[in-house]
Amino acid sequence: MAEIMQGLKRSTRCAELTDAMLGETLTLMGWCHKQRDLGGLVFITLRDRSGEIQLLIDESCPIEVREKAAKVRSEFVLAVQGRLQKRASANPNMKTGEVELLVSELRILSESQTPPFYIEENVNANEALRLKYRYLDLRRPDMQEKLFLRHRITKLTRDYYDQEGFYEIETPILIKSTPEGARDYLVPSRVFQGQFFALPQSPQLYKQLLMVAGYDRYMQIARCFRDEDLRADRQPEFTQIDLEMAFVDVEDVIAINEGFLKRLFSEIMNVEISLPLPRMTFVEAMSRYGSDKPDIRFAIELKDVSDLLAANPFQAFSGAIAAGGSVQLIAVPGGSSMSRKEIDSLGEFVKTYRAKGLAWLTVEDTPRGSITKFVTPELVAALAERAGASAGDLLLIVADQTKIVQESLGQLRCEIARRTGLVKADDYKLLWVTEFPLLEYDAEEDRYVAMHHPFTSPMDEDLMMLATNPAAVRAKAYDIVLNGTELGGGSIRIHDQELQQKMFSLLGFTEEQAWSRFGYLLEAFQYGVPPHGGLAFGLDRLVMLLTDSDSIREVIAFPKIANSSCPMTDAPSVVDQKQLDELGLAIKV
Ligand code: AMO
Repeated sequence: MAEIMQGLKRSTRCAELTDAMLGETLTLMGWCHKQRDLGGLVFITLRDRSGEIQLLIDESCPIEVREKAAKVRSEFVLAVQGRLQKRASANPNMKTGEVELLVSELRILSESQTPPFYIEENVNANEALRLKYRYLDLRRPDMQEKLFLRHRITKLTRDYYDQEGFYEIETPILIKSTPEGARDYLVPSRVFQGQFFALPQSPQLYKQLLMVAGYDRYMQIARCFRDEDLRADRQPEFTQIDLEMAFVDVEDVIAINEGFLKRLFSEIMNVEISLPLPRMTFVEAMSRYGSDKPDIRFAIELKDVSDLLAANPFQAFSGAIAAGGSVQLIAVPGGSSMSRKEIDSLGEFVKTYRAKGLAWLTVEDTPRGSITKFVTPELVAALAERAGASAGDLLLIVADQTKIVQESLGQLRCEIARRTGLVKADDYKLLWVTEFPLLEYDAEEDRYVAMHHPFTSPMDEDLMMLATNPAAVRAKAYDIVLNGTELGGGSIRIHDQELQQKMFSLLGFTEEQAWSRFGYLLEAFQYGVPPHGGLAFGLDRLVMLLTDSDSIREVIAFPKIANSSCPMTDAPSVVDQKQLDELGLAIKV
């Protein structure tokens, strides 16, 4: 039977001790991390969210305390009272390693079964088990540190934007479906049978409507829902730092958010970043790094060598160029010492990005490689010069449609950096990518889709091309990138009803469809709309990068696993027939 806490009041947390407490009687509460019974002498490590402390139960302690201490097991919840004293032998690995509590009263508030894994830092239990028993996993100090840091980041965020004149305003979770690229989660209406609410993919249209309503600066720590395939940096339910500003253009949004990043890095990471942050257009990012979220912590860049290889006897090169594609390469510093096996595995790697193959050449007096038959020493020298490579480097070449070439080499440069340790753990490189294309051609649907979302404004200087060459129109859209991850994105919005309708029609909506889906926005646009724009950061991604975690699951208290289910609660689950009947739903299996 569990004992009661009544009569004892906690005086401090286990590891929040001060020098003045030495010799005092303290009351502590927490979990038994470890119990060691040496016969006549019992050591218990007591843990709470602040850390651990050693409890000592020796022959000077009351008999009932000694009897209970012998029964204590890992994860029992205890209340103890005792005198804080110097330890006979200090433990330098423990924050409270100089002291211990000589226990005069001990109550077992709750017993515990043997946990399915040890509650310790760097646990080696598999993730499925950790997520099934997430409440135990969350007891681990490294998980607690991550969530406490997340709290500090959220608080700093609110403080910063508040000081900049933003109001936090909540927007609804049950909304009308607003396509933003991903699939919606739907919620059936009981009152309107056969009709559905959608969960917001983001508060996008509401924040725009708040600008129409005159709120001028809005921010929200907003929950978003997207039914898409999960990855290490994607959850079906995630959190954005979402904001919108009226009477602004690109520069204003960038400046406010750079200020936020500067303060965040300074206060949370103790890292001073200098402003303004570097910027790169989408076109430059794609051509130099093969990615719209380039990792600029290492220097490897893509170089187009199509001109040097257009007439090459190697068919894969000349063929790709003749078909309108290109041949590009990257140089791996010192890469000529890589083994054949390693180079072959890089070839396999690029195939996952649809490249048909990877040609290679070493920069040496007698070059080795897969295409030595097709190159003269002069050509190797010219390729090396284009790549900025010197003796001992390795050239890796892909020929294909340019999109495939860029993506595969863009991924390959990151893979090489990972494998060869080119990136330092505490190097943070932020970068704005700007001037994204407004539209993207969707071959599957044979129509244009918005690259950011349908409410993004074209660049003023490209407006004329909307009618003649929409694919070439650039948008007032920008992404903020940290170490190769898209941390956030936003845009200046269309605030003109006519332009918004034109955009919908470019995206293939008839006027009727546009009004039925977005009528409330188009209608609002008839009542005085300030020019406006904003941005949203992925809060989970931000915390993931700042805590050097491998996945955003590590920084979300109760995340979903890869198939979007929750192993702890078993959600989603079947519901009662009665609930289905009320909603007028029948399940088709
Ligand atoms: P966007 O769709 O680019 O923009 O999202 C903004 C940021 O949110 C994060 N993010 C995610 N994080 C975890 N899991 C996901 N499934 C996920 N999807 C997105 C990313 C991303 O950069 N309404 C616009 C913003 C705007 O225009 O103001 C929007 O949602 O870090």
